[in-house]
Amino acid sequence: MEPIQIAIDGPASAGKSTIAKILATDLNFVYVDTGAMYRSVTLAALKQGVNPAAEADVIALLPHLEISFAPGNPVQKVFLNGEEVTDDIRSNAVTGNVSAVASYGAVRTAMVAQQRQIAAQGGVVMDGRDIGTTVLPDAEVKVFLIASVKERALRRFKENQAKGMTETLAEIEAAVEKRDYLDSHREISPLKKAADAVELDTTGLSIDGVVDAVKQIIAEKVGK
Ligand code: DC
Repeated sequence: MEPIQIAIDGPASAGKSTIAKILATDLNFVYVDTGAMYRSVTLAALKQGVNPAAEADVIALLPHLEISFAPGNPVQKVFLNGEEVTDDIRSNAVTGNVSAVASYGAVRTAMVAQQRQIAAQGGVVMDGRDIGTTVLPDAEVKVFLIASVKERALRRFKENQAKGMTETLAEIEAAVEKRDYLDSHREISPLKKAADAVELDTTGLSIDGVVDAVKQIIAEKVGK
């Protein structure tokens, strides 16, 4: 397939990164997990004792941060200033503070610039909240993945249990709802379906089922 841009947006735990990574592998495209970038900035703040709620202090860190990716299984590897942070960026502390950090205009400007730079290099599958609306408005394929809050919380609960984390399902459900609210109501580039995106509800679908459905959307859009 020619090198096109595929934007996968949607709320937390809708399955974006799992699906985007499989698609990128199958198509031999680059995969970019943009949520991992906002998580890396949040981790940098926490590690350096910077309050994530202090916008100016978080912004001051930006010139000193270099975020990069490398292929990995089952998830893409993420590096912050050369140090692998793949697992650290999934901690509860990062998850609880990332929406605030991702709401800062200067943080978004820096991340979006890097995301566009990566996308300019060829075929890309990029997942996030604002890919179809802001980062890659001309993407050939835009998919908006959704799933019920209950199902998304259950997916995260199972992932967390496998990692030995002890939060209850109710706590995770509350955290997912809170993040949905913050990500959808922020001023800059809120989570929003692009007018030309295809919405796909993954509730009750298997991973293979979602991948097949997205491939169908790609085929309809680019005729392959
Ligand atoms: O997809 P995720 O849960 O790893 O994303 C972490 C946070 O980053 C999410 O709460 C909102 C923010 N985010 C964003 O604002 N824009 C993106 N393109 C991707 C993520």
